[in-house]
Amino acid sequence: MRVTIFGAGYVGLVTGACLAQMGNQVVCLDVDTGKVARLQAGDVPIHEPGLDKLIRANAAAKRLSFTTDAAAAVAHGKLIFIGVGTPPEEDGSADLQHVLAAARTIGQHMQDFKVVVDKSTVPVGTADRVRDAIAQSLRERGLALEFAVASNPEFLKEGAAVADFMKPDRIVIGAEDERAILLLRNLYAPFNRNHERVQLMDTRSAELTKYAANAMLATRISFMNEMALLAERVGADIEMVRRGIGSDPRIGTHFLYAGAGYGGSCFPKDVKALIHSGALQGVDLGVLRAVEAANERQKLVLVDKVLARLGADLTGRHLAVWGLAFKPNTDDMREAPARVVVRELLARGATLCAHDPVAMDEARRVFGAQAGLSYAASPEAALEGADALLILTEWATFRSPDFDLFKTALRQALVFDGRNLFDPRLLHLLGIEYHAIGRAA
Ligand code: UGA
Repeated sequence: MRVTIFGAGYVGLVTGACLAQMGNQVVCLDVDTGKVARLQAGDVPIHEPGLDKLIRANAAAKRLSFTTDAAAAVAHGKLIFIGVGTPPEEDGSADLQHVLAAARTIGQHMQDFKVVVDKSTVPVGTADRVRDAIAQSLRERGLALEFAVASNPEFLKEGAAVADFMKPDRIVIGAEDERAILLLRNLYAPFNRNHERVQLMDTRSAELTKYAANAMLATRISFMNEMALLAERVGADIEMVRRGIGSDPRIGTHFLYAGAGYGGSCFPKDVKALIHSGALQGVDLGVLRAVEAANERQKLVLVDKVLARLGADLTGRHLAVWGLAFKPNTDDMREAPARVVVRELLARGATLCAHDPVAMDEARRVFGAQAGLSYAASPEAALEGADALLILTEWATFRSPDFDLFKTALRQALVFDGRNLFDPRLLHLLGIEYHAIGRAA
């Protein structure tokens, strides 16, 4: 099928590459000429396992191309996905200007029937606003062409986005128009893998499903982070508690890991946007307000542990930091706990040497030239001469270190682990002082 994607960002690129891989003819449109030029040259601007290979292979096979030409892109696709960004406004609501600009562009250029599909995470009612924006543009052209608007939220996890798209656990399609429903069913048929993954519903339910899924996951994390605080106080081990409750199938084992707080481009933004939507409707989403507050607090938990152990004034202290990305397998630092931790430690006079397997370029961009912050080419090099190690991201390569280095390279064998990577008993036996989340020190 012929597919056009508005937005060559995270969602757009993954969607475009995976649909092309299934044999569709995909055109990705972006307003950023620099980005489009890079993509045309086979240079993929984001770090996502498997994505660059997929993009280059499908571009070479002439199934995937990139353009800034809106008229040609709109003419191309029978299905037009909107996968542009929805950044948070000051008040937490989702900023829809890019989505609505895409809708207007579609209305300005379409010549025949189109199915327009919202793939970005957008508040309930956005499909209607997209429909209005397209209709308005058509009226301005004096045309009354038919089109349909559907909602098809994505549930990709960064770091596993290609695999998630190729093997989805569900495909939510919110649509009322029969042509839209059948075209989307047809598009997604190869992804069903012997089992119907499509869940058909109305557009509003589809829009809310996306937010409710992320809000539920964020709730689990904040809940576990609160339990971890309590576990420390009462001498319990959150890892034991996690296993103990996760074996109940009603609870399940996933997303119960206490840590340094959730980050990324989705959970913080979506929780805020949902709270805002609730308030607009006169519904106080108190559970989610607490989830958000607990997460803000959680990002400081590791800093509090450092201050409790090393004193409130960190002047003259040098600390090693392992991990800057908001989670492993990505260079994304949006809302990463590391942003808060690094800022707080520097403000208290510490100097830091950080290592992240892929996010150091991004960190340089995020932090700029910060006095007191340097980077090391390897995790081992970051340890040299530091008073303690802080672990902020659970990269697999941090999990089985040469523990002797904690004693020889660090000035004192002291580790603050925001991701509970190690068994405290092991570190205790090795003579390493270990402070984790929700576990006895
Ligand atoms: C999240 C959702 O998991 C996806 O289903 C969704 O499609 C996506 O948002 C989106 O809306 O686009 P993502 O932001 O890539 O995906 O990252 P996650 O793997 O969900 O992790 C989010 C944060 O929660 C990370 O900071 C992670 O460290 C933290 N986390 C996760 C925990 O602290 N504990 C856990 O048990 C799990």
